[in-house]
Amino acid sequence: MEFQELIKTRRSVRNYKEEPVEHEALEEIIKEASLAPSWKNSQTGRYYVVESPEMIGQFREMLPSFNQKSSANAAYIVTTYVKGVSGFTAGSPDNELGNVWGAYDLGLHDAYLVLAAANAGYDTLIMGLRDQDGIRRLLEIPEEECIVSVIAIGKRASEPVLGKRKNLAEVAKFF
Ligand SMILES: Cc1cc2nc3c(=O)[nH]c(=O)nc-3n(C[C@H](O)[C@H](O)[C@H](O)COP(=O)(O)O)c2cc1C
Repeated sequence: MEFQELIKTRRSVRNYKEEPVEHEALEEIIKEASLAPSWKNSQTGRYYVVESPEMIGQFREMLPSFNQKSSANAAYIVTTYVKGVSGFTAGSPDNELGNVWGAYDLGLHDAYLVLAAANAGYDTLIMGLRDQDGIRRLLEIPEEECIVSVIAIGKRASEPVLGKRKNLAEVAKFF
């Protein structure tokens, strides 16, 4: 898909078709997300893909009911970053933001991920509301990693509307 069309048509989708996501597509989408920039190319983003029906069933318990409902029929990608690397040199933070840089890098990777998914014909929903401790236990995510978002992925069953955006003047200053 042409890039401008891709960024203009991507939406958060909260209604998915009962159709599994191709494993190969998930692999390709994550490979494309890995092309995002990161602090000193530290690449601290990690992905835990929940695709089998059995695991999806267990994983859904880690979401509040409204996110369970919004992501019914979808697969899930848990995104984490390894702490203390991005924005750090020899274990010390390079500036006042410390581990914020790990989250920053992961956000860039996740932006690529949702666009790569859209380009492959899949829709996504980034979810910040989830049971972090339960997810860590279920997917055996090490303590060195900070769990950030859960991204539902599947195919839209209905057309979502674009949320209203602020005007340019509200978000940008030009000098
Ligand atoms: C960090 C982050 C956390 C979010 N958490 C949730 C969530 O828990 N549940 C939900 O329904 N949407 C969630 N969203 C989706 C936003 O509501 C959505 O991106 C926003 O309303 C703009 O809509 P659009 O993505 O369709 O452009 C989240 C988005 C981001 C970036």
